[in-house]
Amino acid sequence: MSAMAALGWRTLWTLCVCFTALRTNALSVTMSESTMEVVRGDYIILPCSFSTYSPLSRLNIIWTLAPFSSPESPLQVIVYDHGQIIEDPSLIGRVGFTDLPLGADIMINDTRVSDAGVYRCMVNNPPEAADPGIGELLLTVLVAPSLPACRWDGEMDAGGSVTLSCSVAEGIPTPEIRWDKLNPEEISLPINMEGELSGSVQIINVSAQTSGLYRCSASNLLGTENCYINLSIYSGSESSSGILQGVLLTLSMSLMLSALLVLVTWLHRTGRDGRWRVSKGEEEEEEGYNEIRYTPSLIKRSFV
Ligand SMILES: *[C@@H]1O[C@H](CO)[C@@H](O)[C@H](O)[C@H]1NC(C)=O
Ligand SMILES: *[C@@H]1O[C@H](CO)[C@@H](O)[C@H](O)[C@H]1NC(C)=O
Ligand SMILES: *[C@@H]1O[C@H](CO)[C@@H](O)[C@H](O)[C@H]1NC(C)=O
Repeated sequence: MSAMAALGWRTLWTLCVCFTALRTNALSVTMSESTMEVVRGDYIILPCSFSTYSPLSRLNIIWTLAPFSSPESPLQVIVYDHGQIIEDPSLIGRVGFTDLPLGADIMINDTRVSDAGVYRCMVNNPPEAADPGIGELLLTVLVAPSLPACRWDGEMDAGGSVTLSCSVAEGIPTPEIRWDKLNPEEISLPINMEGELSGSVQIINVSAQTSGLYRCSASNLLGTENCYINLSIYSGSESSSGILQGVLLTLSMSLMLSALLVLVTWLHRTGRDGRWRVSKGEEEEEEGYNEIRYTPSLIKRSFV
């Protein structure tokens, strides 16, 4: 009984020793970075080193990417297998190993936003076991804010309300948007965000003091871009501006009516052109005179 137990213990101990020996001889992968950042358009070297005790004749390296934009569809960035290198079509000409076969580092040139995501470096060197044969790092691609677009909407008359809006097309990290009035002194304005990339300011009951230069700025750690709006509030009293508007409306309406009349007369004339060609010159003169006579009387009537 006790002899069998001793044998059992010895077997277990031998197994443990063998396993430990295997472990120390296993290939291991280390990554010196777990997160990295690159500015779009720049190059980056993603580090991945491994140690192995076997010859490198059957070395196999696979780099995969789970992009932030579509994590559910990972892609094989680049593969080294039996001395051959295969790149993903979307990265051909932009990706390459930098120190094969001693290291698995890769370089990505001309980085794009779509290159951002979780990279995995997997190394195998049969018959050696891998422990673990995988390293992981997170790559962020930074983008400076684009030039924001400033717009205004509303009534520029005193007492009206005006909305200033600003939107920026891109920027990573998401740009911070702010509105400031620059004169007479610089003040920051309360902003309503509409989504992450646009923000507006509402100014109610505008007055002459509302006039001035306004600036929207979009900024992140890579920089700041601005757009501007110059507001001029019409400060005339409401009643006189009402009268002016009425006069302008009447004037433009009578101009339109007289233009219409001229057009109708002209159409009438050209319609009878065939007949006129054979008639006397004095008839034409008379028709022209009528045209001039009708127009001013119409304007006069509209004003009354
Ligand atoms: C990246 O660009 C550098 C410099 O232009 C070049 O030496 C290198 O070979 C390029 N790497 C790849 C993978 O295309
Ligand atoms: C609008 O502003 C004017 C002067 O700036 C003030 O007299 C008036 O009461 C304001 N109206 C409202 C509705 O707040
Ligand atoms: C804003 O508009 C006012 C009046 O139209 C003008 O006097 C001023 O120079 C403008 N300012 C800028 C910065 O364009």
